[in-house]
Amino acid sequence: MLILGIESSCDETAAAVVEDGVRIRSSVVASQVSTHAIYGGVVPELASRMHLEVIDPIVVQALAQAGVSLDDIDGIAATRGPGLIGALLVGFSYAKALAWARNLPLAGVNHLEAHICSLQLLDNPPRFPFISLVVSGGHTNIYHVKGPGAFTLMGQTRDDAAGEAFDKVAKMMGLSYPGGPAIEALAKKGDPEKIKFPRSMLGKDNFDFSFSGLKSAVARHLHENPDMSENRPAHVAAGFQMAVIDVLSTKLLAAARDRNCSSIGIAGGVSANRTFVNTLSERAGQHQIKVFYPPLSLCGDNAAMIAARGWEMIRDNQVCGLGDDVYSRVKF
Ligand code: KG4
Ligand code: ZN
Repeated sequence: MLILGIESSCDETAAAVVEDGVRIRSSVVASQVSTHAIYGGVVPELASRMHLEVIDPIVVQALAQAGVSLDDIDGIAATRGPGLIGALLVGFSYAKALAWARNLPLAGVNHLEAHICSLQLLDNPPRFPFISLVVSGGHTNIYHVKGPGAFTLMGQTRDDAAGEAFDKVAKMMGLSYPGGPAIEALAKKGDPEKIKFPRSMLGKDNFDFSFSGLKSAVARHLHENPDMSENRPAHVAAGFQMAVIDVLSTKLLAAARDRNCSSIGIAGGVSANRTFVNTLSERAGQHQIKVFYPPLSLCGDNAAMIAARGWEMIRDNQVCGLGDDVYSRVKF
């Protein structure tokens, strides 16, 4: 079964063709990052306009790269939420029109569930049940994944998402947007033990996160230590990054213990951070827990993960009609 996936929830327009929910035939991503970079964050109206300009050529390109035509497609999957409403509307309306015109089933995919499904595109995917962390610019959610489509939210951030903290700290330090890759690169030259930043919520008996206190602690440190010579920025980046990694890893291992899971799968933009992957893998290995993570091409927003989740939904007859709309937030 060939599914055409479409993603437009934030600042990437993407289309992909995926076979049977697991084999990527093509995956095309058009990033708007350079446009938004000068504003230091995503400008929603600009994002919608840019999606509108490129959605059609991106879909055409994805079909061509897969070596198929629309006649070969068995179903359409498009992100329905959460995300920016104007941006979502472009991809979802496009998908609705295509599904209607071609009389194809349409899956309205939850973007966060799709990030988890990026793990099933691995050659060796995690076996159910497993613990999953979706960690991006908008979310830091821990799930217990019991089976296909069976996601139970265990905890989430109470304020900033981890990726958002990376972006905000990078901005304070005058680094480029998006901040995650810039902080990770700078941190490689620093000592993570030199400056100890706070680890929020670790003492709490739950799986929630809070990163705004850490962000404020970095701001305070920068204000009180204006002398940024002697490699200090690298130590700040390394200390901040390790504080985030420590909290994420500790909570993930606690969640795995709590639900008796021997696999952890991380997904979303921040899972591109290889210092995080290595630290988590090392700590998990001490408890005989295996860590799964997507290749860099599937960490950020993409449409292959949307098609992977959409395939499951279409298989289970969870399809949308023309009257269904997009949503900006998920109600848990
Ligand atoms: O999943 P994603 O592409 O878009 C959202 O749905 O938010 O995630 C983007 C986020 C940004 O906050 C970015 O700074 C962060 O992922 N990110 C990273 C790294 N690469 C991207 N954070 C830490 N380290 C990285 N290497
Ligand atoms: Zn995302």
